[in-house]
Amino acid sequence: MPCLVTVGGFFGDEGKGKIVAYLAKRDNPTIAVRGGVGPNAGHTFAFEGKEYKVRMLPSAALNPSTRLLIGAGVLVNPRILLNEIAMFKADDRTYVDAQCGIIEQQHIDRDKSEDHLKSKVGTTGTGTGPANADRALRTLKLAKDIPELSLYIEDVSNSVNFALEAGEKVLVEGTQGTYLSLFHGGYPYVTSRDVTASGICSDVGIGPKRVDDVLAVFKAYVTRVGGGPLENELSEEEAKKRGWLEFGSVTGRQRRAAPFDFELAKKAVRLNSATQIAVTKMDVLFPECARMRDWNKLSAGAKKFVEEIEGELGVKVTLIGTGPELDDMVDRR
Ligand code: IMP
Ligand code: MG
Repeated sequence: MPCLVTVGGFFGDEGKGKIVAYLAKRDNPTIAVRGGVGPNAGHTFAFEGKEYKVRMLPSAALNPSTRLLIGAGVLVNPRILLNEIAMFKADDRTYVDAQCGIIEQQHIDRDKSEDHLKSKVGTTGTGTGPANADRALRTLKLAKDIPELSLYIEDVSNSVNFALEAGEKVLVEGTQGTYLSLFHGGYPYVTSRDVTASGICSDVGIGPKRVDDVLAVFKAYVTRVGGGPLENELSEEEAKKRGWLEFGSVTGRQRRAAPFDFELAKKAVRLNSATQIAVTKMDVLFPECARMRDWNKLSAGAKKFVEEIEGELGVKVTLIGTGPELDDMVDRR
């Protein structure tokens, strides 16, 4: 670490939640802070046989000694956040920036009823796009206006910057994925903010020179939910046959699937100035590698795939996910 930013390299659902949960357990950061859009994200991780999902809290929530922060650029749905705080018993270590925007029912209703959003873009229907539109119009409510959140309000950028000045470890968690970026993705089939590493840093209020490492997370194959192009997209039968058929954790929608895209990955490395790469779900591509934790024990095919990624992208693959449990991981750092 000390300041590590994680981002998705493709279209979201790369398995960032599990990577962040693993890093939180392993590296024990003082602070985990979420950037990204808001509760349109769904991060899943499993620990000791139990599956957890978060949409608002950082995926570091299982580490009781890590403070859980939400940056000013992130939209908050108070109901979802309060549920998660209760679920993780994180009442005394969750902090929300006073200037986080608030999603209200009307934003959700608009997201679900406007044809352009619902049918064309295929949004998650969680109200994030309409709320960010209102934020740009400067009519959106902020977290500091919500009595239910008063216990949790703080200046998150100050907390993060003071911790970094004191030499503490900070894990910055991005959501969505590079090609869902409002600026760098395939507009209009994108989310409502920039979600590359620079955007995530802006969300939490840290400048570019504060970051030590950017970890871009790629899945071993590509998936996408909602509208927009997907190069080399597989048929449903083929995706099923390969075990690549997935369902969205927020919307339950079936994800479209395609093989690993080296060109997209290369550009994602540049857009994010990635210094490390994580490849998740290697056990789906190489079932013989399931649950392995030792690089030397991976099959020749799996090693070759990782080495090809490193050769093409010019960045070291430091983490390799081999199963759903946090510790199903080859850690080459
Ligand atoms: P919105 O972010 O709900 O406005 O949706 C815009 C596009 O981004 C749609 O294609 C969504 O499916 C996609 N999207 C937003 N958040 C996520 C995510 O966390 N994982 C995967 N796709 C997402
Ligand atoms: Mg997801």
